[in-house]
Amino acid sequence: MHTTTLGRTGLRVSVAGLGCGGFSRLGLKSGKSEDEAARLILEAVDLGVNFIDTAAAYGTEGVVGRALKSIPRDRVVIATKAFVHRNDEWWPPERVVASLDDSLRLMRTDYVDVFSLHGVKPDEYDYARDVLRPALIEQKAKGKIRHIGITEFPETDIAHAMLSRAAQDALQDPLWEVVMVAFHMMHQGARRSVFPLTRASGIGTLLMFVVRSMFADPPRIRRELRELAAKGLVDRSLGETDDPLGFLIHQAGAATLTEAAYRFARHEPGADVVLFGTGDAAHLRANVASLLKPPLPEADRARLVALFGHLASGTGLDGHPPAAH
Ligand SMILES: NC(=O)c1ccc[n+]([C@@H]2O[C@H](COP(=O)([O-])OP(=O)(O)OC[C@H]3O[C@@H](n4cnc5c(N)ncnc54)[C@H](OP(=O)(O)O)[C@@H]3O)[C@@H](O)[C@H]2O)c1
Repeated sequence: MHTTTLGRTGLRVSVAGLGCGGFSRLGLKSGKSEDEAARLILEAVDLGVNFIDTAAAYGTEGVVGRALKSIPRDRVVIATKAFVHRNDEWWPPERVVASLDDSLRLMRTDYVDVFSLHGVKPDEYDYARDVLRPALIEQKAKGKIRHIGITEFPETDIAHAMLSRAAQDALQDPLWEVVMVAFHMMHQGARRSVFPLTRASGIGTLLMFVVRSMFADPPRIRRELRELAAKGLVDRSLGETDDPLGFLIHQAGAATLTEAAYRFARHEPGADVVLFGTGDAAHLRANVASLLKPPLPEADRARLVALFGHLASGTGLDGHPPAAH
């Protein structure tokens, strides 16, 4: 496994991080049992993955707890999260702390390495920083949290307005130690608006949405590119072919589009951990293998930047239905 340092947290982390949420939730969403899901975590750890991302909202903290029964606690870096505002309700600090305590109980541990405020929208940022963060600092002093983070809400915050502010704030004062940001082959805006700031302030980065629903679904890619081309947002030729990203697949390049997607994100300057979500052991192995491969050939990477680097359409930023979040 390749490892890196997660910004100024100093944590040594695998560049491949197992996401326990997303559309797969370790397979729980497609009917796998908690034991099967816990085995997936153990297999990831056997492959060298030491970063595990979960959240109170995912319903997978109990699975992480099961897996932790057979892994020495200090072998893994555990990240979890709590909401700031949901269903028209602002979460008071006591509720966020209660969520943290619940997370610790479910995961059978007495600390989390990274505790983040979850899916924070731009208009929630001031409340997150000014009202909730002081409570997290208290929990950090008690040893329940090692590092404090914040994650964005990509579905609507396409321009990374929240994280741009958070990372800008951290230039003056080391507020946030870790951020989670959406980045993929057709959503590259973080290169301009987030990574220069996180690199300057030493914030560790976790990348999400690298594949999500789109890059494992060739007909969907075709459809999306037709629409983008019709709107004049990408080169017209991309809307006229059945295989618009086919140029990535060749002997010296990627074997599959998901491989291309993970390799593209993994080698982006400023990217620390690439999260991948899966409920499938074969996908787990393929994704770890992809993340260990070298960068895409420079001509392919440059073409992705030239074709899509300007795009700010929100393509591929699929959210959960509101009820499920
Ligand atoms: N705001 C937030 O804080 C936030 C929001 C979203 C996600 N996250 C975190 O980010 C993590 C990653 O989530 P993501 O949705 O961004 O993950 P992703 O890795 O971009 O996409 C995962 C999807 O692709 C499929 N997939 C994975 N590997 C594949 C392969 N080799 N071949 C074909 N299909 C494959 C998975 O289905 P299978 O189960 O079939 O493999 C899953 O549906 C989440 O688990 C969560 O921890 C955080």
